[in-house]
Amino acid sequence: MSSRRKFIKKAALGSVAISSLYTYANKSNKEDASTNDVLTTNIKKKPIIISTWRHGLAANEEAWKELKNNKPALDAIVSGVGIPEADPNVRSVGYGGLPDREGKVTLDACIMDKNSDCGSVSFLQGIKHPIAVAKKVLEETPHVMLTGKGALQFALEKGFKEENLLTEKSKQSWIKWLEKSKYKPVINIENHDTISMLVLDEDGNLYGGCTTSGAAWKLHGRVGDSPIIGAGLFLDNEVGAAAATGLGEAVIRTAGSAMVVELMRQGKSPTEACKEIVERIYKKHLNHKDMAYLQVGFIAVNKQGEYGGYSIRPGFNYAVYDDEKGNRMEKAASKIVRK
Ligand code: GLY
Repeated sequence: MSSRRKFIKKAALGSVAISSLYTYANKSNKEDASTNDVLTTNIKKKPIIISTWRHGLAANEEAWKELKNNKPALDAIVSGVGIPEADPNVRSVGYGGLPDREGKVTLDACIMDKNSDCGSVSFLQGIKHPIAVAKKVLEETPHVMLTGKGALQFALEKGFKEENLLTEKSKQSWIKWLEKSKYKPVINIENHDTISMLVLDEDGNLYGGCTTSGAAWKLHGRVGDSPIIGAGLFLDNEVGAAAATGLGEAVIRTAGSAMVVELMRQGKSPTEACKEIVERIYKKHLNHKDMAYLQVGFIAVNKQGEYGGYSIRPGFNYAVYDDEKGNRMEKAASKIVRK
């Protein structure tokens, strides 16, 4: 048997074992007793693209086209997540994103490549494609992160156009919110946010990006996890890649994505790694003021093309594109089962 076939066989057997293990674990854990998904590890071929939430489908479609046209993976990510960034109906990313308490749309994004080079922008206003600016930071500066006015100045110098990102619909939502002005994000809606995309390319190299308008109704100046390497996104090309969505504060407190990658380094599958960090975040927030609206989800992929996701509350899903099954949504299992 070729070593590749041996690996696939071993991986498939491993996935059955993992699945039984989780079935047992879930039965013995009251909170997970009626878990909504079986925690199998999915084994897929390269290339593979995984993106958070339903807006990930259109993003994957575009990124896949680029990959298949032999475009570099970073370009594929910029084009892919650029779709929801430009879509006014995606209210948590780029143009049309819900604003902060002052009615300002402020954007966070980062991007990372196989060499651990990264670029990031935070608290950026007036630029529709922050992910493209983050890529410029990676490629054309000696830095990793630019923020606020400096990030805007850099973007303008690089030829990006400044424009109003607050659509009439988002403005009306904000005016309505002002009536009560309560900060209590609606789970999976007002913190149903980031598009995070992970790519394992044809050559087996890892890349990732994420972009968001962040939590709706945040304080002006608030920065979430999405532009923070290690929190919203992390990868190590020897191991795997992970990205987060949900309440950024909770992801930053726990260095979420970096921890998922470290657990994969120690031998956990992507789903197991996501699950362990989700459980850690859940436990750390049991007596925390954020618990009432705490939702965090992770996606992860390893060098072998195994991928998975897991979230605190139900409702988190992600888009996966590979040669075998095409582009589709997959549901993540969750720590808390009932809505
Ligand atoms: N996860 C995005 C944010 O909290 O801003």
